[in-house]
Amino acid sequence: MDVVICKDYAAMSKAAARVVAELLNHKPNAVLGFATGSSPVGLYKELIRMHQEEGLDFSKVTTFNLDEYVGLPPDHPQSYRTFMNTNLFNHINVPVQNTHVPSGTSANHAAFCAWYEKQIVDCGGIDVQVLGIGSDGHVAFNEPGSSLGSRTRMVTLTEQTLDDNARFFKKKSDVPRHAISMGVGTILEARKQVMVVNGKNKAPALAAAVEGPITSMITASALQLHPDVVVFVDEDAASQLKMRDYYNWIQKQAKKAD
Ligand code: GLP
Repeated sequence: MDVVICKDYAAMSKAAARVVAELLNHKPNAVLGFATGSSPVGLYKELIRMHQEEGLDFSKVTTFNLDEYVGLPPDHPQSYRTFMNTNLFNHINVPVQNTHVPSGTSANHAAFCAWYEKQIVDCGGIDVQVLGIGSDGHVAFNEPGSSLGSRTRMVTLTEQTLDDNARFFKKKSDVPRHAISMGVGTILEARKQVMVVNGKNKAPALAAAVEGPITSMITASALQLHPDVVVFVDEDAASQLKMRDYYNWIQKQAKKAD
């Protein structure tokens, strides 16, 4: 796992966006996995800038999002489909029919989840998966205790996640209790993982995920099993990493070699 400590949120977002852009430059029909949350918003802004100013082309891209709240229709202001349209899809040239966000309103969630998994496979699998991390160490909505082999399914959100996400709703009781989420096993099948983590409040979860034991109590720790992971973090989020100096040294050598 590569840990790249960046001086601030803007630098972190740019560095992570560069990985996606490099992939697109050599594979224009790449399959991209996207995440919601405030962490990747800067990365998406940078992709939009690259599209508008440098002609980064998304016309052949296919996308899959990690998760969606159960019960929110796609046009709900807090749905993850709305989030993706507003923060990325509406500003780039990806064909809307190539964008996939799980449905939170299907009549049969289990059948939908099986279909979603099949779509990912039929598209050739995800080339690069963008990830954030929850303050309890979750990836997507794989809450503590989720099987590290889990597949796309309906999950129940923890009290902590409801508290964290209440800021987007009028009141906490408006946050849906359930979500459709790609599983940890599904996520691990992406060929490359790019995680973005910023802010002091994420420091304990990041340290546990990167330097702690692999455990279903911190589902992001499963990334330690993946052969190609880059974690871009700002100084605040990196503040509890024991191996900080080591990661910085490696990055310095990599820059010198460039
Ligand atoms: C939600 C999403 C995750 C995201 C997390 C952190 O739980 N399901 O994919 O990583 O929020 O969000 P933020 O980046 O806003 O802290």
